[in-house]
Amino acid sequence: MKHPESEVNEQSTPFDETTPLAREIAELTRRRQAVAKAALPLPSAPRVFTVANQKGGVGKTTSTVNLAAALARTGARVLVIDLDPQGNASTALGVEHRSETASVYDVIINDVPMADVVQKSPEFAALYCVPATIHLAGAEIELVSLVAREQRLRSALDQFLQDSAEAYHYVFIDCPPSLGLLTINAFVAAQEVLIPIQCEYYALEGLSQLLNNIKLIERHLNPKLRVSTILMTMYDSRTNLANQVVDDVRDHFPQQVLTTLIPRSVRISEAPSYGQSVISYDQNSPGSLSYLEAASEIAHRGAPQ
Ligand SMILES: Nc1ncnc2c1ncn2[C@@H]1O[C@H](COP(=O)(O)OP(=O)(O)O)[C@@H](O)[C@H]1O
Ligand SMILES: [Mg+2]
Repeated sequence: MKHPESEVNEQSTPFDETTPLAREIAELTRRRQAVAKAALPLPSAPRVFTVANQKGGVGKTTSTVNLAAALARTGARVLVIDLDPQGNASTALGVEHRSETASVYDVIINDVPMADVVQKSPEFAALYCVPATIHLAGAEIELVSLVAREQRLRSALDQFLQDSAEAYHYVFIDCPPSLGLLTINAFVAAQEVLIPIQCEYYALEGLSQLLNNIKLIERHLNPKLRVSTILMTMYDSRTNLANQVVDDVRDHFPQQVLTTLIPRSVRISEAPSYGQSVISYDQNSPGSLSYLEAASEIAHRGAPQ
């Protein structure tokens, strides 16, 4: 699909490069050519990310879907596990998740093998999704009485990765906006935590609680867990506030914050209503380019030691 936002002249810039618009177009062209050329290194073992932040609306699902799509587009085999009863990641990846669909609920509660519920996303060749249905809303409570209630997703995922005929390179687990048993299951199943932070005033609020919880999980349930990646989302370069928030987060987490900032973009927000990632919906838009660049940073940084 073509949009005015992506109408960028490839060959030469017919404008005087000194005007702001011409500079912006030239810059977009440069970025587009850079991501088109980039071949990303593949990890030797699957990297499992939990995408978490107990705040809602910070860009967890959007980042999960678009980073997964960006990596799949460049040749990685990628699995998204939708662990939010809302099922927004499933919607954005264009996979079936009506209430009767076999889903992550059956995996966690009924011991159904993950291989029986995984679906191929129509988005990219090697992009797969374990969907969430509305049944997952009851799982927090049902989990309480189950054996090994914190380890259920990990056991299922380990088995799935071990049995897969073709190796997966990345797994992204999209969490609900809470720190309940579902999110704990995600922390136990992963080695890396990716925290999306919205560039707004209350961005850091609640972050210390999240980090404390992650520390507790690391100490008691999953010693391999690391906060490897922080991604700043919904960035608006025109506001001083956004720049202050970015500086603040970079001061606190110099190692983890990606250089790439995800801009606030209409294309990013409208892609899910077409059952698409922004990468396929409008590949050359600034939002898509940013997710491709963030994915490239993640791939080049590699797993934490
Ligand atoms: N970079 C962005 N620009 C514009 N809208 C965005 C951006 N990222 C997310 N959104 C929108 O903000 C809302 C919340 O994002 P979402 O990824 O669902 O957050 P979460 O999963 O943390 O609740 C959604 O409507 C989404 O489309
Ligand atoms: Mg979400």
